[in-house]
Amino acid sequence: MKVLLIGSGGREHALAWAIAKSPLLTRLFIAPGNPGTASAGENVALEIADHAAVLAFCRLMDIAFVVLGPDAPIVAGMADDLCQGGIKVFGHSKAAAQLEGSKAFTKAICDEAGIPTAAYSRFRDAAAAKAYVRQQGAPIVVKYDGLALGKGVVVAATLAEAEAAVDDMFAGRFGGDAQVVIEAFLEGEEVSFFALVHGEQVLPLTNAQDHKRVGDGDAGPNTGGMGAYSPVPVFTEALEAEVMERIIRPTARVMAARGTPCSGVLYAGLMLTKDGPKLIEYNARFGDPECQVLMLRLESDLLALLLACAEGRLDEVQARFRPQPALTVVLAARGYPGDPLKGTEICGIGKAAALDGVTIFHAGTKLAADGRLLANAGRVLNISATGATLGEARGRAYAAVELIDWPEGFCRRDIGWRALP
Ligand code: AMP
Ligand code: GLY
Repeated sequence: MKVLLIGSGGREHALAWAIAKSPLLTRLFIAPGNPGTASAGENVALEIADHAAVLAFCRLMDIAFVVLGPDAPIVAGMADDLCQGGIKVFGHSKAAAQLEGSKAFTKAICDEAGIPTAAYSRFRDAAAAKAYVRQQGAPIVVKYDGLALGKGVVVAATLAEAEAAVDDMFAGRFGGDAQVVIEAFLEGEEVSFFALVHGEQVLPLTNAQDHKRVGDGDAGPNTGGMGAYSPVPVFTEALEAEVMERIIRPTARVMAARGTPCSGVLYAGLMLTKDGPKLIEYNARFGDPECQVLMLRLESDLLALLLACAEGRLDEVQARFRPQPALTVVLAARGYPGDPLKGTEICGIGKAAALDGVTIFHAGTKLAADGRLLANAGRVLNISATGATLGEARGRAYAAVELIDWPEGFCRRDIGWRALP
């Protein structure tokens, strides 16, 4: 079958890499893709915000299946528009994607389904929000209600920080009618858990741990994610079963009962608190860079799984992951997560990728007209490796990092630290 994958980041390179291995695939297109995805399929320069153009391309090329990678097209309703046009899609409807797009929506679903999550309140004006913050005390968490590309959350250690965050969000930093959710600070270890969902059908995938802060030791500002590994040793099978029963299944049930069924991946951001796992947030897509380590461990045919999800046949398939760990280190451009330096040259990728167990995914690169590889975004490369142990995977990934010649890039040196001595 011919498949079109939407997106251009490291997650999409990993998805393309996995889909390309499927015996079901005849031709893979990636729109817009990146220099990495070009080695797994054919990049197409489609304007993905233009759903009609995407639909026209699907018809022209006789695409049987479209896989949505990033949140933006999902939240914008690309699945609805393509389905209406008769194209099969992996990715949630716009209505279901409110689980990602609106924190207040997710909280309402949690209330309705009795899902364990942090206590919260929502506000439409700054004065009331600040009064609530003062009443609750710090630490406290202030969240902008809407898509803010992973940057709309302030975990405030002090009241002053929390009040400044409220002012900032109501000052129109993200535009539109502001609404903020203020919630209790949860203490524990964070884990990302992934499941495929179609209506009330659910299929657990596996877990990973992200590293959201920019600096070693979890210091500095939040980012989209500086590295990940999978599996997470503290996330036992018993915890997975608990998360499926208390979080994923009830969500699937309530969404279906509301007439807005899920169809796609649910990414549950969890805090493993002393009172059990609690939901921090949902995303309606794979995590980036978590997807990269998931794909390195996936033994089953990804395309077959995504198709079974889209067709409501999750009860017929199994998702098998190799027990051997995978780890990925994000190489970012200096300045990230603020204003990353673009256009600097990266050398040595070939040598690094040739190391045992190493796979390099492109996240934000571009090819210059003369063939040089240039940095083109904040997160640029995902230096990934598998190993017999997590320590071996980490050793391999960092050995590969050393072979990359890119003075303007940086990475965290401690990916996997919570699971390693
Ligand atoms: P979110 O966008 O909701 O995932 O939040 C981004 C990050 O903020 C999370 O990955 C957590 O590290 C942190 N965070 C969010 N909510 C809470 C909370 N209630 N307690 C502690 N940390 C939180
Ligand atoms: N790695 C975090 C995210 O994809 O949102």
